[in-house]
Amino acid sequence: MITIFRASILHFPKTTNQPDADFEYFADGMLVVEDAKIKAIGPSSELTRQYEHIPCLRHDYSGKLLIPGLIDSHLHFPQTEMIACYGEKLLDWLENYTFPTERKFAEPEYASKVADIFLDQLLRNGTTTGLVYSTVHKSAADSLFSAAQQKNMCLVAGKVCMDRNCPDWLQDTAEKAQRESAELIEQWHEKDRLYYALTPRFAPTSTEKQLALIGELAEQYPSTFIQTHLSEDTKEIDWVKSLFPSAKNYLDVYEQHHLVRKRAVFGHCLHLENEEWQLLKEREASIAFCPTSNLFLGSGLFDYERSKAEGVSVGLATDVGAGTSFSLLKTMGEAYKVCQLQNQKLSALSGLYLMTQGAATALDLQDKIGNLNPGTDADFVVLEPKFDALTELRLSNSTDPKDILFALSLLGDDRAINSTWVAGELAYKQKEAINAMA
Ligand code: GUN
Ligand code: ZN
Repeated sequence: MITIFRASILHFPKTTNQPDADFEYFADGMLVVEDAKIKAIGPSSELTRQYEHIPCLRHDYSGKLLIPGLIDSHLHFPQTEMIACYGEKLLDWLENYTFPTERKFAEPEYASKVADIFLDQLLRNGTTTGLVYSTVHKSAADSLFSAAQQKNMCLVAGKVCMDRNCPDWLQDTAEKAQRESAELIEQWHEKDRLYYALTPRFAPTSTEKQLALIGELAEQYPSTFIQTHLSEDTKEIDWVKSLFPSAKNYLDVYEQHHLVRKRAVFGHCLHLENEEWQLLKEREASIAFCPTSNLFLGSGLFDYERSKAEGVSVGLATDVGAGTSFSLLKTMGEAYKVCQLQNQKLSALSGLYLMTQGAATALDLQDKIGNLNPGTDADFVVLEPKFDALTELRLSNSTDPKDILFALSLLGDDRAINSTWVAGELAYKQKEAINAMA
């Protein structure tokens, strides 16, 4: 069956360093979906004629903005319940809040319950794909993958590996991390729409041996992802230097263990040295930009202009639970402010790019998600620009999608999400009752 969606449609058909020029916009557009994939996109006037005599389901979202499903390039599913715990810097925050919370995920039933809540939070915020950290427990990763599989979501996730510098009740060993990660790869990687990410938490919580064994897996399974943290907090960086005295810099710890490559996504990257920027570029590795987390933990300001100048791929990320919102729209507004503080500019289209096609490129999944090109998976979001009295007033005379998006990045959140579609199926719909204008 063919389904047709009529709306204002905005996306980036290709990877670009000029999102302000390389977007495609149809003020009165149509998206045609068949068998979970996008079949056609274009102006309504053209496609209406083409599909006039073909039986289809039709959804009329005129006046709303249809964009690709949003991609969150870095977040932690077990930290859903500890979002907004009173502020500390990174290392104290980990010890006082994070590790005790993650301990609860030893219990598979608990992990399954939170996995459902977590995925529902993603969908109600228009996020259709995440690069997700689980906990050290293999069964918690199983729970997350199972829950995502049931929703037919495109999800990349992995079991955290850590064998030192954390409580003993949250540790694995080098061998156990390798064995369990390999088992999870065999079970979940490239099954339906799921992918596995090797997940050493960060350099301080892994021994050299553990990093080496994870590096072996990274070479053995080159299509897997790698996710970890890099250069987030100055105390953390000093600690890494003392733990790995032979490394030239923080990134070199990962490089020595074959963990810097395409499909490796490094969270934060706030205080990088020149050589680290160069190596990220050389190896085609990517960065997850986590503005709300960086502000919340007082870690620093991401140098967005530098990432563009160096040509390193960047995806926007919430980093829940150090990040303070599941909403990528809101996260984009905070990214704009982080740039403002450094006299840098983040245009509305650049912000959208960082959570759609740019993020898909950072994950090397641009052939499947991140845009609305024919042949890609039909993951998309319908935005409701005027979701309350204030946005009704602010946007009453606005027809420019850039202005609408920018306003929503500062005024919006899940209230601006009309519906979220995963592989062509309705995955979330906002209750009409929420609309304050009704
Ligand atoms: N570094 C190591 N673990 C974490 C984590 O869970 N959150 C953040 N923000 N940084 C980390
Ligand atoms: Zn993180």
